[in-house]
Amino acid sequence: MKIAVVGTGYVGLVTGCCFADLGNEVTCVDVNHKKVEELRKGVIPIYEPGLEEIIKRNRNQRLTFTTDLKKAVETSELIFIAVNTPQGKNGDVDITNVKAVAKGIARHLNGYKIIINKSTVPIGMGDIVTQIIQKHGPKNASFDVVSNPEFLREGSAVTDLLKPERVVIGASRLSAAKKVSEIYEPLHRPILITDLKSAEMIKYASNAFLAMKISFANEIANLCDKAGADIVQVVKGMSYDTRIGGQFLNAGLGFGGSCFPKDVAGLVQIGKKNGYKFRLLPEVLEINQDQRKEFLKKVYRAVGSVKGKTLAVWGLAFKPNTDDMREAPSLTIIPALTAKGAKVRVYDPVAMPAAKPYFKKVTYCKDPYEAAKGADAVLLLTEWNEFVQVDFQKLKKTVRRPIVVDGRNVYDPVHMAELGFVHHGMGRGSKTVLL
Ligand code: UDX
Ligand code: UDX
Repeated sequence: MKIAVVGTGYVGLVTGCCFADLGNEVTCVDVNHKKVEELRKGVIPIYEPGLEEIIKRNRNQRLTFTTDLKKAVETSELIFIAVNTPQGKNGDVDITNVKAVAKGIARHLNGYKIIINKSTVPIGMGDIVTQIIQKHGPKNASFDVVSNPEFLREGSAVTDLLKPERVVIGASRLSAAKKVSEIYEPLHRPILITDLKSAEMIKYASNAFLAMKISFANEIANLCDKAGADIVQVVKGMSYDTRIGGQFLNAGLGFGGSCFPKDVAGLVQIGKKNGYKFRLLPEVLEINQDQRKEFLKKVYRAVGSVKGKTLAVWGLAFKPNTDDMREAPSLTIIPALTAKGAKVRVYDPVAMPAAKPYFKKVTYCKDPYEAAKGADAVLLLTEWNEFVQVDFQKLKKTVRRPIVVDGRNVYDPVHMAELGFVHHGMGRGSKTVLL
């Protein structure tokens, strides 16, 4: 199929490249000239495992990059909108970019097209895009608008696209939905075809549910700290119940990234606009923010006043396997520490270039040990493998005090004690060692 993907951000780029890999002819469009130039040369603006190989395999054959929306629209039968929909005022979803792209597509329509919303957009956006195309497109324009939300996790976006647990397609006309589903048929995964608004809602409901699981685990973790239980054991025990499952129950610093915080806030606003006041979701967000504070309290308890102390921060990105800093816990934790006079030494395997604009008063280091040099405590914020498999003997010789505040519960408290480290986890209150 001939496909255009508008927006070469995390979602658009992965989507376009994977569709090309599946044998389609794909034109990726972006307004950012520099980005397009770089992509043409094979320079990828983001860190995403597996993406580089796919681009290399398909570039200049089935995969092209352009700023020319007109040409892309004219030569494609399916047009995906994958531009960013950032958080606007009061948590509202900012749909300016989607509207602008819809207008642009309308102006260049030259025959029947299917316009597909891939970006996360408020419920009812399909209708808005339809109205924009009717208003700005040619008279009697022939088109369908379809919703095909993305469920891509950064760091595993390529796998998520090529091995999705489900594909959701919402449309007003079955033939349009079926056409879009043809792209995904080679993947042999469940495809749900439904109406436009239900598809749009599925995306929000899924992300809000996952975010709720994380906040639930974090609240139980906070109680574990006080009551003397171990959240890791608790979640393990819960997870054997298939009605609960074990995923997205890792307690720690809470969720960040470009989706969960924005989508939960967005759904609250969508509720308000539809005359429904969510009670659960605002709490999910508040609990999430409070986790950062809980972590800071642990740091203060562990080292006392941080003024003049050296603190090593391991991990800056909002999660491992990405260089994305959006809503990363490091963005609140590091400034809080430097404001109190701490000397902060940081290391992240890939996110340091992306982090530089955010943190001026820190020392960037070349590896975890260098960051830990003379440290009064090591603070783990992102659970990169490199930190999980650290050489503790080497670390012990580097730090000033063997204290680890483990924001992601990656280390075993008993093992850490054996190694001679004082370990502070999130919800690891159990003091009982079974012999
Ligand atoms: C995506 C989705 O679009 C968003 O709805 C979802 O909730 C999260 O993921 P993302 O891919 O992360 O957003 O956005 P970003 O990395 O910011 O990239 C967006 C791209 O669209 C940029 O390259 C930007 O230049 C481009 N763009 C933006 C256009 O080409 N045209 C525009 O009018 C606006
Ligand atoms: C998310 C969705 O999972 C994906 O389907 C898509 O809709 C885009 O948004 P992403 O934001 O890339 O993906 O990352 P994800 O792996 O879902 O993690 C989100 C945040 O939750 C991260 O900050 C992560 O550290 C945190 N998290 C995740 C936890 O704190 N505990 C967990 O158990 C799982």
